[in-house]
Amino acid sequence: MAPRSSPPPSRRPPLLIAGAGRLGGALALSLSARRWPVRVLSRTEAGRARVKALGLKPATDKDVRQARVCLLCVPDPAIPGMAQELDGQLGRGAALVHCAGALSLDALGAPRARPLGSFHPLCAVSDPRDALAGHSVALSTRSRTLKAVLRRMADDLGLHVLEVPESQRAAYHAGAVLSAGCVVALLSAAVEALGCAGISPSEALTALLPLTRSAVRGMEARGLAGGLTGPIARGDAEIVARHLAALPPDIAELYRQLSQRALVLAGPRLPEEARTALAARLASPGSVKRPA
Ligand SMILES: NC(=O)c1ccc[n+]([C@@H]2O[C@H](COP(=O)([O-])OP(=O)(O)OC[C@H]3O[C@@H](n4cnc5c(N)ncnc54)[C@H](OP(=O)(O)O)[C@@H]3O)[C@@H](O)[C@H]2O)c1
Repeated sequence: MAPRSSPPPSRRPPLLIAGAGRLGGALALSLSARRWPVRVLSRTEAGRARVKALGLKPATDKDVRQARVCLLCVPDPAIPGMAQELDGQLGRGAALVHCAGALSLDALGAPRARPLGSFHPLCAVSDPRDALAGHSVALSTRSRTLKAVLRRMADDLGLHVLEVPESQRAAYHAGAVLSAGCVVALLSAAVEALGCAGISPSEALTALLPLTRSAVRGMEARGLAGGLTGPIARGDAEIVARHLAALPPDIAELYRQLSQRALVLAGPRLPEEARTALAARLASPGSVKRPA
């Protein structure tokens, strides 16, 4: 018997994935494994060979005409051109969907007689074999029928659905970038800070990554405020002042601004005196006092 969350095969329309790269490959593999009829459209012979090597089926012209939903998994700048090209090849009423977090539905061209949508997994996919289950996906579409299909797809992939209003897409995507790429940038600042203490970059990263993982586990278990540790959570303004003085100016400024955010989280739990002392230390770039 099929699992309870699994819809019958007839509710999985023929799917065309354009672009056999990281995300296209990962979606094609996971959806094929959940019995979606998936074909992968690749521009080159090498791409088609890659599709076959993954155990996937390259799309024929007939597959393109018969697809009911086409997921564009090509680089963001290529989306408008690819959408225009496929508009002339896809069957009547087939949906066009892009996977770019940063782009609105306008990237798919002027509204025409086909449903348009966006399906953006909040997952850093660096290889087609990467697992998608357990992440979230941001959906956007004005078509109720397409929304139902995309929700079914998300359900089959084990993705939690976020519905993102088109007007707020940039804010949504900026948040996603802050939580992934900007964490990497932040770790590079932390590695540089350890460098001031004579620790090599590779040794520093090896030491810091488990620390970051333990902070993430803390947030998973106890939420943002409950997962916060360090001198701000302890209300220790003297330590914060010493940190600011010890860091190179650009990293000190980063530390100061992030510590202001941390103070918002920790503030309600701190004694008034500690909160005021920390706020004064973190008030402005000029508040960073260097030793004489
Ligand atoms: N990777 C991620 O973590 C991730 C996460 C969420 C969303 N996304 C989104 O998913 C989309 C694809 O990203 P990706 O990381 O999978 O990219 P990718 O690994 O670079 O793959 C893109 C694929 O598109 C095809 N392609 C390359 N240049 C093209 C062009 N100029 N015109 C048409 N097709 C071209 C190629 O496939 P063929 O050689 O087979 O044609 C290439 O393998 C983007 O919109 C991205 O924002 C990615």
